[in-house]
Amino acid sequence: MFKKFWLRKNPKDSSTLQDKIEEIKKMPVPNHVAIIMDGNGRWAKKRALPRIAGHHEGMKVVRKTTMLANKLGIKTLTLYAFSTENWKRPKNEVEYIMRLPEEFLGTFLPELVENNVQVKMMGYKNQLPVHTMHAIEKAIEETKHNNGLVLNFALNYGSRSEILDAVKQVLNDCNNGILKETELDEKAFSSYMMTANFADPDLLIRTSGEIRLSNFMLWQLAYSELWFTDVLWPDFSEEHLLEAIETFQNRQRRFGGL
Ligand code: FPP
Repeated sequence: MFKKFWLRKNPKDSSTLQDKIEEIKKMPVPNHVAIIMDGNGRWAKKRALPRIAGHHEGMKVVRKTTMLANKLGIKTLTLYAFSTENWKRPKNEVEYIMRLPEEFLGTFLPELVENNVQVKMMGYKNQLPVHTMHAIEKAIEETKHNNGLVLNFALNYGSRSEILDAVKQVLNDCNNGILKETELDEKAFSSYMMTANFADPDLLIRTSGEIRLSNFMLWQLAYSELWFTDVLWPDFSEEHLLEAIETFQNRQRRFGGL
């Protein structure tokens, strides 16, 4: 009797990750979640480790986050892995980050294939090292027939350049009679962006306590719900993702209406 008493769990504490997932899935989950994965350097510094150790740990969190997003039925997960401004970082750090897609996909591509995940990438491909692009293109090719979660890496991505390039392409198409000025509305303009085939993010998450967008999806985030946390990206857990989604589910999106 006494033993039984001690074994009995408080129902409030007994909620496992699986229970929480089931609970979250009872309400609509965001279709597109975008994440600014920030704080790898600070995570490493706190442990007197080189910054690249933080990026390596961050890569493991990419895997966990992807698997949970897929399980939740999220359609697209866009991850800001490297911005057009990140080239200013020390050479060894840039080189290390550029090796991460190879390491990540070298290890986890079979798991992504098996779990019906489609790998995609947005960003300026031409400046990326050949080995980085090779790993990504292989993953895109091997997952192209999957129809589950789209795992979209934003790599060498910058939103202002993306918008400017779209404007130039629009002008070009207008000058060449491919597009009429009267046909140019928000939907048409969106089709000139790198996200042409994606819906806009419903939820943006940024880790590490920074409250800014850092040149990330400025056009696409116009009506997204924003969720910021002080947690550093390598410490971002499945529970944190569920917390962000739960907050999203409790918000009222009005898109400018009442
Ligand atoms: C920002 O943290 C993080 C980055 C610029 C790199 C993000 C990359 C990963 C999380 C790994 C990506 C994995 C794959 C598979 C591509 P920061 O370095 O700016 O951190 P800090 O603000 O604390 O210095």
